[in-house]
Amino acid sequence: MKALKDRILKDGRCFPGGILKVDNFINHQMDPILMKSMAVEFVRRFAGTKINKILTVEASGIAPAIMVGYLLELPVVFAKKCKPSTMENMLVTEVFSFTKNQTYTICVSKDYLQSGDKVLFIDDFLANGNAGKGMIDLVKQADAELVGMGFLIEKDFQKGGEMLRQTGIHVESLAVIESLDNCEIKLKDI
Ligand code: G4P
Repeated sequence: MKALKDRILKDGRCFPGGILKVDNFINHQMDPILMKSMAVEFVRRFAGTKINKILTVEASGIAPAIMVGYLLELPVVFAKKCKPSTMENMLVTEVFSFTKNQTYTICVSKDYLQSGDKVLFIDDFLANGNAGKGMIDLVKQADAELVGMGFLIEKDFQKGGEMLRQTGIHVESLAVIESLDNCEIKLKDI
């Protein structure tokens, strides 16, 4: 998606270790106009897919997810990074964050993810796909169906995209980072 790619090149910053900082327009300060355009693009890419619920994970997935939910007029559920003591009536899974080198317990209420739900997962980054794997597990536990996964930015040099697509899931990313070597942002020409 051209508008996002242009913005990454203009305002994205590289950090050592292959981290792209986009907190000027996606995950700290947010640009709602760009968010809306990205949500419109997701709606276009998942047109024809039967969806009744948008799922994301806190925190940075919430903004793009709610934009998609708004456009499709569907409920948006965010999985919480939660503490064991609060887990009643919850579906629970573990997610290892490679970037933060930390394992989170994430959970979602059984009231909001149910058998028969047709779920579109939306998130900001697809890197190692650990968040995505956790979502697959939660959706499976709920006996719901994961009909697609949409990411704002995919890092092609990490293995999440390949791993998720191999499962047969319809995965869409609006911008794909080919490399951040030498702190230079190289975008894939898609
Ligand atoms: P994954 O999300 O594909 O599983 O990969 P990984 O374990 O590497 O990601 C851990 C966290 O770091 C995720 O956020 C993910 O969105 C974020 N992340 C991964 N690569 C980058 C990057 O290059 N830049 C930025 N800004 N973030 C990246 P999270 O732990 O869910 O935290 P939150 O920010 O959503 O609260």
